[in-house]
Amino acid sequence: MRKEIQACRKCRLCERRLQAVPGEGDLYSPLLFVGEGPGQREDQQGRPFVGPAGVLLESLIQSALGLKRELVYITNIVKCRPPENRDPLPDEVEACRPYLIAQISLIAPALVCILGRHSLHTLLDPDWSISAVHGKLFRKDGILFFPTFHPAAALRSPQVKGELSLDFHTLRLLVEKEARLGA
Ligand code: URA
Ligand code: SF4
Repeated sequence: MRKEIQACRKCRLCERRLQAVPGEGDLYSPLLFVGEGPGQREDQQGRPFVGPAGVLLESLIQSALGLKRELVYITNIVKCRPPENRDPLPDEVEACRPYLIAQISLIAPALVCILGRHSLHTLLDPDWSISAVHGKLFRKDGILFFPTFHPAAALRSPQVKGELSLDFHTLRLLVEKEARLGA
């Protein structure tokens, strides 16, 4: 599937990407993180969350969950960078959706952590607001979803950063319970 994504031309985002960013991590992880889409650094390196938002995500995974990022799986709603980091458009999200659905079914995580509004709207409900549902657990089609704020939003607001950090502590309890990770 990585090769298929790297060669994919199913939407216009293929035109200006340097490279696609399929995702990375442990395919046997009980925990899958789903962000929005690659930014500049991710597009350059072909890896998810390697820019400033990635530094924060990695430190939360380490400090709150006690895990190295290699031990979880990290991906995005769209696998190619939207120009100037604009929001992905609905037809781009739809074109890319089958890859995410396949990743979820292959990895079969105990829990999917939704990072931010786009991921929330794509995976759960387009009418929900992240501030209203963050930090809560939802079950859909037999999969558990835990929405929280996008780390990039936390970099813009100390208040959001505090909420994100609290959500990660809730996440730790949930992962221990659901996956019997211990940690
Ligand atoms: N923001 C995202 O949503 N995904 C990345 O991979 C990097 C930044
Ligand atoms: Fe293909 Fe997704 Fe990239 Fe669009 S964003 S070209 S659907 S991999």
